[in-house]
Amino acid sequence: MSSPNTPTSDDQLIALAKDARERAYAPYSNYNVGCAIVTADGAVFTGANVENASYGLCICAERNAIAAAVCQGHRDLQTVAIVTQSSPPAAPCGLCRQTINEFCHVPSELRIILVNLKDERRDFSLAELLPHGFRGEHITP
Ligand code: THU
Repeated sequence: MSSPNTPTSDDQLIALAKDARERAYAPYSNYNVGCAIVTADGAVFTGANVENASYGLCICAERNAIAAAVCQGHRDLQTVAIVTQSSPPAAPCGLCRQTINEFCHVPSELRIILVNLKDERRDFSLAELLPHGFRGEHITP
């Protein structure tokens, strides 16, 4: 999903993440997660978690949304909204934090909005959730 040129508000992004959560496939955990992201050029992408009977194959909502963005050529994440059923709203797992970091230029400027079904909300930057994250710049030839 992509809608460049139209600024997306936080409320719109949260609504899209809730909608995506409805399409989660999580029969093993019954823990449904939805994610919506805006990239630097204003494009919007969504994802939900997709589980598998072989548990190690489960994929998080955030990484599905990011993969959708990257596969459409959008590599610069700006804002990530995540909807869970947890109270307080849950923060992304470590794998997803690192994946967000891969597609973020300035971790202190990337916004992560956490929301639950009661509309409780917590806002963080990626730098707050992943301080001192490992980055490609650390790899020296
Ligand atoms: N899950 C996500 O989608 N995102 C996270 O950041 C944490 C966990 C999913 C994976 C699995 O399908 C379910 O939540 C329970 O762990």
